[in-house]
Amino acid sequence: MNYSLEILRNCTFCVELSANRTNVVVGDGAIDNPKVVFVGEAPGKNEDIQSKPFVGRSGQVLRQVLDALGYSKDDYYITNVVKCRPPKNRDPKLEEAKNCFPYLKLQLEAMTPEVICSLGTHATKYLISNGDFENISKRSISASRGNLIDIKLGDKEYKLFPTYHPAATIYNRSLRDTFVADLKKLKEIYQPI
Ligand code: URA
Repeated sequence: MNYSLEILRNCTFCVELSANRTNVVVGDGAIDNPKVVFVGEAPGKNEDIQSKPFVGRSGQVLRQVLDALGYSKDDYYITNVVKCRPPKNRDPKLEEAKNCFPYLKLQLEAMTPEVICSLGTHATKYLISNGDFENISKRSISASRGNLIDIKLGDKEYKLFPTYHPAATIYNRSLRDTFVADLKKLKEIYQPI
């Protein structure tokens, strides 16, 4: 398969996802050298309609926490591993994440963020495994979160900072304080006080 960001909006590599999508959700935010790139799992219904990541309920949580912590909109970009909505918001299949991952790699290469913040188990496991889909890490999100981890995608090195998915903090309210503390720590990493 031949990957470029130009073909992403018309991509049909995942037949089922492309047949059922309204829009490809490429990403949103500061595209020119953002300090942080947030990476979620896959778009949901609202994201598919608006062609923008994290605009539904979990997006409200994420964006409210970022605003409350004083993140500047110039400092971050938001995207997902999988750029098309899985039908009925099911988890993306491994094959779908594998098909789509090269687009994320191209985005990261173009933006060269100081830190990649993976949101939740799925985005974290693919990134922490350096995009090696034959050897996906089994490390739990609670063991990885809140730490800076060196990763390598192709020949590019990045710092990965995993945290919980904002949706997890809606279903399990006790995770919210940790999520906020992680994002506070992340801001201090790229913008020391
Ligand atoms: N959940 C995600 O992982 N990504 C979105 O864009 C929205 C919800």
